[in-house]
Amino acid sequence: MPFDILIVNIKGLVQTRTSTPSFVAGEAMAELPVLENAYVAIKDGLIAGYGTMDELVRSSATQVLDATGRFVFPSFVDSHTHLIFAAPREEEFVMKIKGVTYEEIAAKGGGILNSAKKLQATSEEELFERALQRVDEIIKTGTGAVEIKSGYGLTLRDELKMLRVARRIGRETPLTVKTTFLGAHAVPKEYTKEDYIRLIREEMIPAIADEKLADYIDVFCEQGFFSPDETEEIVERGKQFGMKPRIHANQLYRSGGVQVGVKTGALSVDHLENIGDEEIEVLKGSRTMPTALPGAAFFLNLPFPPARKIMEAGLPLAIASDYNPGSAPSGNMPLMLSLACIKMKMTPEEAINASTINTAYALELSDTHGSITKGKVANLFITTPLSSIAFMPYHFGSNPVETVILNGQVIF
Ligand code: NIG
Ligand code: FE
Repeated sequence: MPFDILIVNIKGLVQTRTSTPSFVAGEAMAELPVLENAYVAIKDGLIAGYGTMDELVRSSATQVLDATGRFVFPSFVDSHTHLIFAAPREEEFVMKIKGVTYEEIAAKGGGILNSAKKLQATSEEELFERALQRVDEIIKTGTGAVEIKSGYGLTLRDELKMLRVARRIGRETPLTVKTTFLGAHAVPKEYTKEDYIRLIREEMIPAIADEKLADYIDVFCEQGFFSPDETEEIVERGKQFGMKPRIHANQLYRSGGVQVGVKTGALSVDHLENIGDEEIEVLKGSRTMPTALPGAAFFLNLPFPPARKIMEAGLPLAIASDYNPGSAPSGNMPLMLSLACIKMKMTPEEAINASTINTAYALELSDTHGSITKGKVANLFITTPLSSIAFMPYHFGSNPVETVILNGQVIF
């Protein structure tokens, strides 16, 4: 039986693993396996095998792609996005340029509440159409699996609407999608916080679980949003309904998000612009994946997470985009790698591990995504001709992705 696709003469086949570790941590983050002068074979949507060109014995395939001078990467796994939204917020971008802070904008009803107002007025169909444009955009820059959060609905009806759109993206596009309920993103003006948390606990979580719309539950644990105690209360309720926690932690302040994330067994704690030794200590020995969102730190001019300190403590680190209209209006993973290298002093190898294997772990996709491994889903991309792997983050803002293959199909 011929292969469906055979990619030959690959300059470097990146992230080949015979068996994948669940994640890579500490010094191991600097080790990125790359097979030179390689081939990879695809059959029935899966990676059927790979090796060096001289090991290639059976070369019959329906489609043969020549990757001379090019690298092949496993598709990025973007473990943190809010890519369903009704409208961008460039007016707030201009306000920030003129000196108003993200928190001041939020306090005046801008920010998340601004996005919620627009989303509530947008139909499910229209929301899907708008999100599709972003899906297309991230596929073209190498993303193959993505987490999508709710959190711009803030009413039962509109949170359900967002999550239905997220599930539909998983069904109707080539992306692998995991969904997260983020009702606790901000408190709507009409509610006291206590009443809103009651609504989340008593109505939203059960209704969402009933329709099986969310794999995970998230809370914006931050001063002015939700406290660690409130976060715990909300995610514990989610856990009762089968939603595992992942937390927005330590973005603006040392708000206790990391501690409550570890305490509740969160799969990941994301942001981490404001962490110190205490948070790093707490993460040691846990299974919680620390996740940096360099696009958000860049866009809001926040300090970048202390990546080197985290890795020197022996911990793993993941990198995701946070694609959203307020703090990170880009889902471009190659650009996130550039920011990780330039602003967080990660090596290209560390940044690639952080955005493939480690994000796959954070989304419980280790068995199927995040590496070039026999039997995993054939999600990969062929780069433009590149002199080396380091050229990719070095040439920031460009798109190094030339051919995308998802689920064993050439997408473009
Ligand atoms: O991850 N920090 C909270 N949530 C988003 C931003 C939301 C928004 O401003 O619309 C984030 O940065
Ligand atoms: Fe976020």
